[in-house]
Amino acid sequence: MRQPNDLSAFWLPFTPNRHFKTAPRMLARADGMYYYDESGRALLDSCAGLWCVNAGHGRVQIADAIARSARELDFAPTFQFAHPDAFALAQRLAALAPEGLDHVFFVNSGSEACDAALKLARAYFQKVGQGGRFRLIGREKGYHGVTFAGISVGGIGNNRKPYGPLLPGTDDHLPLPYDSGMRFTRGEPEDGADYADALEGLVALHGAETIAAVIVEPMAGSAGVFPTSGDYLKRLRAICDRHGILLIFDEVITAFGRLGCAFAAERYGVTPDIVTFAKGVTNGAVPMGGIIVSNAVHDAFMGGGADHQIELFHGHTYSAHPLACAAALATLDLYRDEDLFARAAKLEPVLESAVHELRNAPFVKDIRNVGLAAAIELESDHAAPGRHGYEIIRRAFLDENMVVRVSGDTIALSPPLIATQHDIGRMVDGIRNILSTLR
Ligand SMILES: Cc1ncc(COP(=O)(O)O)c(C=O)c1O
Repeated sequence: MRQPNDLSAFWLPFTPNRHFKTAPRMLARADGMYYYDESGRALLDSCAGLWCVNAGHGRVQIADAIARSARELDFAPTFQFAHPDAFALAQRLAALAPEGLDHVFFVNSGSEACDAALKLARAYFQKVGQGGRFRLIGREKGYHGVTFAGISVGGIGNNRKPYGPLLPGTDDHLPLPYDSGMRFTRGEPEDGADYADALEGLVALHGAETIAAVIVEPMAGSAGVFPTSGDYLKRLRAICDRHGILLIFDEVITAFGRLGCAFAAERYGVTPDIVTFAKGVTNGAVPMGGIIVSNAVHDAFMGGGADHQIELFHGHTYSAHPLACAAALATLDLYRDEDLFARAAKLEPVLESAVHELRNAPFVKDIRNVGLAAAIELESDHAAPGRHGYEIIRRAFLDENMVVRVSGDTIALSPPLIATQHDIGRMVDGIRNILSTLR
């Protein structure tokens, strides 16, 4: 294994670089449920990489598909040209998505997917003669990636505060439908539907004729796994419908089995106008993202126009990159052939009862779970918020042979969907061990 001889050149994202470089946590290889460090030590992956490696690591079918594509078609532009896998993949994704969402626009990440969805919402209203609709409404604690649009509709303070002023028309955020009375709920809280009524408040304040879209995660993942009730999402849908507002589900985390279905929209029986995806679409093997768009929104762009006229001035050099399409097609085959979404649904009660066993462990303030995702929220050290979370990452890696993900002082578990009951037990035992000596 090649040893980097200087760690200063690489500026790591979302990482305390100075401290990291005093004792770097290197991941050199991965297979199944495990990472391996440079010495060959196995580290249990409790977070599917970054919520993306849903079929587990080192899947040969995906690697082979990527290699084949690299040899046959290394790159093809999708501006004015295309390649067969792009169409095949779009069709497969539309078939998995809720009925009526039939058109796929490809980008390269979750952030770009959110950006595309938000831009499309504004462009749609210009197309249909309602150009006064420009407001884009997010939600407190929402995470929609890191572009200016994403952090503007996003609701995580640290991601926004250094970068203002943000995108005009994005100042309003709905409340997260969660409160302290819901702590330690197993699965989705029953209550909380009336949090959606805050949208009526914004309509009253600004006028529906100024509002283009609402964007929410069906389960707020990056903020620390906040499930929302199906009734809440239904109420949000109804209010959007009443006022002609587009509803965007950011499913970058929740799609491809995390909540036991292809899309969370299916779990909750609510169809948005646009759904974003990324991460699990390629099992994390090649960057890819996209949006799946309703026929109504899509068709508004396709009517009339001269032959040479471009309908949407948007796209990326690597939109529908051949290697990403090949990886995604192989990934969707694996999800189907191994019935991994159903496997996640079966594992949901296993993860639920395992994590809730931590209720009386030191520092535990709340435990939340839905699908194959769970959060253990810890009391913060008020003098140093985030210190406990960082300690968990370090100790899990050093002492418990685990890779864990935290958000502030909240531990988020989101194992690959191939996890076993034993794997889940080990994750919870590892966290219990760390908490027992946390100071
Ligand atoms: C809901 C959601 N949207 C968008 C993103 C951004 O995706 P990416 O990091 O691929 O840009 C994430 C990443 O975690 C996410 O969870």
